[in-house]
Amino acid sequence: MSPNADRVMIFDTTLRDGEQSPGCSMTQPEKLRVAKALADLGVDVIEAGFPAASPGDWESVNAVAREVEGPIICGLARCNRGDIEKAASALRPAARHRIHVFLATSAIHREYKLNMAKEEILRNAVAGVKIAREFCEDIEFSPEDASRTELDFLAQVVEAVIDAGATTVNIPDTVGYTVPHEFAELFRYLRKNVRNIDRARLSVHCHDDLGMAVANSLMAVVNGARQVECTINGIGERAGNCSLEEVVMALRTRETFFNARTGIHTERLYPVSRLVSSITGMPIPRNKAVVGENAFAHESGIHQHGMLKHASTYEIMRPQDVGLTRSSLVLGKHSGRHALRERIRELGFELDDAEFARVFEEFKVLADRKKELFDGDIEALVLRAEGGDQGPWTLSGLRTGSQGGVGEATVSLQHADGRKVERSATGDGPVDAAFKAIEQATGLNPKLRKFELRSLSEGEDAQGEAVVYVDFRDRSYRGASATTDIVESATRAFLEVINRIEQSQRAQAVA
Ligand code: KIV
Ligand code: ZN
Repeated sequence: MSPNADRVMIFDTTLRDGEQSPGCSMTQPEKLRVAKALADLGVDVIEAGFPAASPGDWESVNAVAREVEGPIICGLARCNRGDIEKAASALRPAARHRIHVFLATSAIHREYKLNMAKEEILRNAVAGVKIAREFCEDIEFSPEDASRTELDFLAQVVEAVIDAGATTVNIPDTVGYTVPHEFAELFRYLRKNVRNIDRARLSVHCHDDLGMAVANSLMAVVNGARQVECTINGIGERAGNCSLEEVVMALRTRETFFNARTGIHTERLYPVSRLVSSITGMPIPRNKAVVGENAFAHESGIHQHGMLKHASTYEIMRPQDVGLTRSSLVLGKHSGRHALRERIRELGFELDDAEFARVFEEFKVLADRKKELFDGDIEALVLRAEGGDQGPWTLSGLRTGSQGGVGEATVSLQHADGRKVERSATGDGPVDAAFKAIEQATGLNPKLRKFELRSLSEGEDAQGEAVVYVDFRDRSYRGASATTDIVESATRAFLEVINRIEQSQRAQAVA
């Protein structure tokens, strides 16, 4: 590590911009799990949500502010008192917090979205920052759609918000439109033309519509940005945001070029990436840089030969630097607690004693059904155990079969309030029959949108993960489950969806 390298702050917005993307919504306990994992990863700022967006968002931001230690906890707000007060109240319990106010500045947004003239934008931006300063000293301002804003007007806004008390100015490429060379020019322009630019930290926030979010963010760093906003696995609106793991590993691998470093514990990248993928249901492409399954796989003979001579021939990062500690070690029913605990640790997960006890119990059950347990199996057990069983419905029995091409299923369910219900149904195969039986038992009939199955490890007895996507009263829900029996996985995944619907109905009733 070069001693003179400048520190670049990592601002993670997985829980705000990431969660905003279609199909990536998370429950409050899931957001807390992600936030704690981000704190362990060493991010500097966690943008926990947009408290004014809904009572549920306020609750989630507040829970993160109460329970997550280490990073600065940030909440987003528009430039109005109502939003800012909600953000401030949600963030209050955090040891260190930041209010992030934003207002669009580009001509397109001024004319079609806001119907405001430049002077009004300037006034509102300044007022927003001043109101936010009544509640906290750490204020970030974002001129939304900055990359499509006239440079002189952007400079005027940036200068005014810094005078008003903004301590970080973030430059978003909201629609993923800019290209590295042009974005570099924009940062140089601001540094040259904004009188008070040295009084604030410059930040960058890129979207990936043209696949350049990471490249554009790095160009901003080269030209003075000292905070990068990003998300795990690059999830986010449309094509996503700048991917945290990619930008962090680019800065680390090419530290002498960038002369910049982050405080990220890179060996935690892989487990956090898996956690976010498992919670959101957004799969990680096999060839994804840094955390994809193939990121460190060498197929061609020439490459393998080179690798055997010296890893540096074809590897610019070591798998262990990103927390990828794949091994061919296989566990089975004779493996003891110690071996399992070690393997879990090597995979980058830390479990408390209660969680480990639950995983060990499930491990033994699985090892009875499946001869060999690979890393994918262990990972699935751990991710499940960390989430816990959130109910209220649990599956206590499942019988399925088919006769004359017609599927049959009987499900026995138990509700947290003590009810026990058993229903049988027929359908187009046993999975369809089980879904219908659950609908009859619970009285909920969501519309099935998508159903996916994939194998989590190797061998004929591999665990099959089922993922179910449904729509119910204008909202989308997702459920996932993995067992060695795909009908059971599908049934459990569907029951998770039912549980999520019931939980959200309960939350809405309370709100
Ligand atoms: O993309 C964007 O402009 C944003 C802002 C709110 C920072 O997400
Ligand atoms: Zn964004």
